[in-house]
Amino acid sequence: MFSRYKKPDDAGPKLVEVAKTEEAETQKSAGAAKTQNQRKAPPKKPVTIVPMMDKEKKRKARLSEIKVELHKRLLDDLNLSALETASESDLRAEISAIAGEALEELSVVLNRDERATLNQDLYDEVTGLGPLEPLLKDDSINDILVNGPQQVFVERSGKLELTDTTFKDERHLLRIIDKIVSAVGRRVDESNPYVDARLEDGSRFNAMVPPIAVDGSLVSIRKFKKEKLAVDDLVTFGAFTEEMAAYLQAAVSTRLNVIVSGGTGSGKTTTLNALSSFIDDDERILTIEDTAELQLQQTHVGRMESRPPNVEGKGAVSQRDCLKNALRMRPDRIIVGETRGEEVIDMLQAMNTGHDGSMTTIHANSARDAVSRLENMIAMAGIEMPLKAVRSQIASAVNLIVQASRLQDGSRRMTSITEITGMEGDVISMQEVFRYQRVGLTPDNKIIGHFTATGVRSHFSERFRMWGYDLPASIFEPFEG
Ligand SMILES: Nc1ncnc2c1ncn2[C@@H]1O[C@H](COP(=O)(O)OP(=O)(O)OP(=O)(O)O)[C@@H](O)[C@H]1O
Ligand SMILES: [Mg+2]
Repeated sequence: MFSRYKKPDDAGPKLVEVAKTEEAETQKSAGAAKTQNQRKAPPKKPVTIVPMMDKEKKRKARLSEIKVELHKRLLDDLNLSALETASESDLRAEISAIAGEALEELSVVLNRDERATLNQDLYDEVTGLGPLEPLLKDDSINDILVNGPQQVFVERSGKLELTDTTFKDERHLLRIIDKIVSAVGRRVDESNPYVDARLEDGSRFNAMVPPIAVDGSLVSIRKFKKEKLAVDDLVTFGAFTEEMAAYLQAAVSTRLNVIVSGGTGSGKTTTLNALSSFIDDDERILTIEDTAELQLQQTHVGRMESRPPNVEGKGAVSQRDCLKNALRMRPDRIIVGETRGEEVIDMLQAMNTGHDGSMTTIHANSARDAVSRLENMIAMAGIEMPLKAVRSQIASAVNLIVQASRLQDGSRRMTSITEITGMEGDVISMQEVFRYQRVGLTPDNKIIGHFTATGVRSHFSERFRMWGYDLPASIFEPFEG
C-alpha cells in the first residue's frame, strides 16, 4: 500500500476494535461472497426505530456508522505527521485504499457514488472540519450554527434552516472545535469555555463548550464571502436605492464620519465594506477589527486584528491599543470593524481631530439608539464627563448614522440614513434623510415597502457642492407612490 503516509506496521494496533453492530457481525459470518441484496437486509437494530425509517434513512444511518468506524481506523492507520507534506492526490489515494481494505474486511459493498461520498467525507474528516466541511463549501450559506452534536442550522437568504448534518457525538464535535482553535494557537476547555477564531478561509468562528453550553457545544460561523457585496450588488438586491448610493458616495468622499448601526447579522460589516469603496485610492486607510473581515479594494490599506490574552492571560492587544497605535501611523482614514467598548473614546477623538472620514459599526436598533449606545460605552469606559459634554463630543464627531436591518422576511435593507446636525440644548439633533417605508405584507409573508427620501434638505448639501458632489434636488424628494 501507499506506505508514505501510513504508519509503520509496528506503530500500533493495525485495526481498532470493530464497532460491533449486529449487521457487521451478520455480514462477516456470511463470508466474502456478498451480494447487493444482502447489503440491503434490514439491520437488526432496535425494533422500535427501524420500521419507522424509510429505506433511504436506514441506508444513511448505516453509511454514517461505517464512516465513523472507518474514520477511527484511518486515524490509527494514517501516519498523521506525514499528512502535512502529503499532496492532495496522494492523500486521497491513501484514504481510498485504507477505506477499501476496511470495507472489504467489514464485508460492506458500496456502489460507486457511495464510495465517492464516503471517501470525500473521510478526506474532510482527516484534513478538514468533518461534517462542517460541505456547509463551509456551500456558497449559498451565510451562517452555520451548531447547537450540540445533533442540531446544525444554516442561514440562507436571511432565513434559518435546520440541516440533516450531525456529529457522531459531543466528543466528535469537540474534536472538530479543538482542531480549529488549536490551529490558531488557542485552547478551549472547561476552564476556558469560549473562544473566537478565524478559519483559514477567513470565516469568523466562535465556540462555547460545556458546561457553560448546557446541551453540548455551541458553534457559530459567519462564512467569509470571497466576493464581498459591492454597492451595485446591494442596489440590485434592494438593500438601498441608487439615489441613496449617490448620497452615500458624496458623504464618504467628502469625509463625513459615518457609523453603521444595526442588529446582529443585519449587514453592518457588508455595508461598511461597500461604503469603503467610495474612498479615494490615494488615501492611506487603516482598519482595526477583532476578526479581520473587511476587504478593502484600495491599494494603500493597513489591516490590524486585535488579539485576546493567551492561556496565561497575557499578550492581549485590544482594539483600543491598535487604535492608539494607528493614530501614530499617519492614517488618512481609520475604519474600526465594530466599536463595542473603551475604544469608543479614541474613535470619537480620532473623528474629532483630523481623521475625519472615519467609519465604524455599532450594535443598535436605530440612530437614536446608536447615540445612546455611544453614551453608555463612554460611561462604561470610566470617563467622568457631564452628559452634555459627552453628547457634544458625539455630535461633533459623528456626522451620519446608517441603519442596517434584517427584516422579518429575511431581507436586509438600509432602513434609515440619519444626519447628526448638532446640539439643541442638551439634546443631539438629528434629521432622517432617507428611510425604508413598510406598507404591508404579501400572503407569503414578504414585506412590501419602498425607500423614500424624507423631503428634508441635507445638512451637508453645501459641503457636497463645495467638494464637487452636486446632488440633484430630486434625490431628496419623497417617493410619491
Ligand atoms: N443586503 C444584503 N443582501 C443579501 N445578503 C446580505 C446583505 N447584507 C449582508 N448580507 C449577508 O448577510 C450576512 C451577514 O452580514 P454581515 O456580516 O455584514 O452582518 P453584521 O451585521 O456585520 O453581523 P455581525 O453582527 O455578526 O457582525 C453575510 O453573509 C452577508 O453576505
Ligand atoms: Mg459584522
